Amino acid sequence: MNKIWVIGLGPGHPDYMLPIAKRKLLQAKRVYGGKRHLETYNMKGDKVQIKIPLFETIEDIKSNYRLNQTAVLVSGDTGFYSFLEMLKEHFSEDELETYPGISSLQYLFSKLNMSYHNAYIGSVHGRAIDDEEFRNYNIMGLLTDKKQGPKELMDKLRKLDLSATLFIGENLSYSTEKITAIHTSEEIERTYSSLCVVVIKFD
Ligand SMILES: C[S@@+](CC[C@H](N)C(=O)[O-])C[C@H]1O[C@@H](n2cnc3c(N)ncnc32)[C@H](O)[C@@H]1O
Repeated sequence: MNKIWVIGLGPGHPDYMLPIAKRKLLQAKRVYGGKRHLETYNMKGDKVQIKIPLFETIEDIKSNYRLNQTAVLVSGDTGFYSFLEMLKEHFSEDELETYPGISSLQYLFSKLNMSYHNAYIGSVHGRAIDDEEFRNYNIMGLLTDKKQGPKELMDKLRKLDLSATLFIGENLSYSTEKITAIHTSEEIERTYSSLCVVVIKFD
């Protein structure tokens, strides 16, 4: 029986995709993914853009995956805030096969020559983090979004009277990649890309 391959693409540039994931993607007959991903990566199968609300895409996968080897593309790593959790609500363990990728946060930590084994790793993308977490860690790595970006994190740190350096990684691994550092004592003077992760290093 065909399993649905859930493939982690890494941060965005195909150089950062694992070889086994690249091979699986080339073998897939039907590939579900975001527009940017379907345009960027090398594949031979039919491309199907993932739609919001996601249940339409789920229904489409349900009616096709048994006949055509199906792959679902997710950004970064499959195990870190990806579409995998939603797929698990609709398909059994036996129906899914996962190929990991490099997370956007892993990539930023590597660019900063920093380890993350003692860091708080999480997300403010559509969720909130307890104030206590900001006080409990020396280093944090966070996914962000349009509503909760570097500026909002800076405001939060100031409100909690914490001083730190924010390392901001925008469009990581793309030609437009920008990694900048700003301290809580400085003012943010520009807007950041919505494709952005932040590492916070407390003083
Ligand atoms: C739905 S989450 C997916 C996270 C992904 N599974 C991972 O491991 O990186 C989307 C968030 O990932 C981050 N992200 C993904 N790719 C990125 C990139 N190339 N540059 C900066 N941030 C990225 C952004 O914070 C974005 O809002």
